[in-house]
Amino acid sequence: MTVHFIGAGPGAADLLTLRGRDLIAACPVCLYAGSLVPEAVLAHCPPGARIVNTAPMSLDGIIEEIAQAHAAGQDVARLHSGDLSVWSAMGEQMRRLRALDIPVQVTPGVPAFAAAAARLEAELTLPGLAQSVVLTRLSGRASAMPKGESLENFARTGAVLAIHLSVHALDRVVAELLPHYGADCPVAVVWRASWPDERVVRATLGTVEAEVGAERGRTALILVGRTLGAEEFDDSRLYAGDYDRRYRPVGASPRFPETGGQ
Ligand SMILES: C[S@@+](CC[C@H](N)C(=O)[O-])C[C@H]1O[C@@H](n2cnc3c(N)ncnc32)[C@H](O)[C@@H]1O
Repeated sequence: MTVHFIGAGPGAADLLTLRGRDLIAACPVCLYAGSLVPEAVLAHCPPGARIVNTAPMSLDGIIEEIAQAHAAGQDVARLHSGDLSVWSAMGEQMRRLRALDIPVQVTPGVPAFAAAAARLEAELTLPGLAQSVVLTRLSGRASAMPKGESLENFARTGAVLAIHLSVHALDRVVAELLPHYGADCPVAVVWRASWPDERVVRATLGTVEAEVGAERGRTALILVGRTLGAEEFDDSRLYAGDYDRRYRPVGASPRFPETGGQ
């Protein structure tokens, strides 16, 4: 018996990995985080599967549900939105399951920030403009931010920020970032990327509050950084004709021996 933690992706049912789909289809029990996992993903559950929405449950209740499946020798598909490596609450469940000697396995999913960037047709890291993306959030009722992880501190680096769980406090985001990025810095807000009711606002730090208006919604990513919508940036060296590299040796004495494409 194994508990399969599976990243269910950002919303669109076909943004689920093949491995995730096959595991869901093989597990007689499925626990899913109801607020963000689409019904269509649950359609992969086998006939007769026990399907439980964990949104209204406590951690104790979730572990109890898994322990019962374990006692019955039934594999469990545990679905969380996006990927499991960020804001999934997988860590606390894993800790309990390890203490109970219940085996676990993790299958990654498409994270929301990647779905939002895809919607914007954006490479977030562009040569000379930004080479780092910070996945972060403002503090919330459920999670305080550790000291040092303020937006202001991240802003000092000039990295692209992918700000989660914070669209309700857009004014605070703008106030903290303006002094560092400037009013003309591009911003995009993407609500429910890849869902049928997806929405996008492209603006700048100076205009985003007015563009978004009073209706903030809940499930959205705020992306801030100089690479958004940029056309003025250098080509990477990777594909430069004169760049001598392992897979494309250049010149009379290349740095790497011929690899034959291997
Ligand atoms: C609890 S976190 C889950 C993050 C998820 N584990 C991931 O890998 O993206 C929920 C937050 O992620 C962002 N989010 C999740 N799905 C989204 C989507 N489809 N479009 C935009 N933002 C999304 C929002 O900021 C939302 O408040």
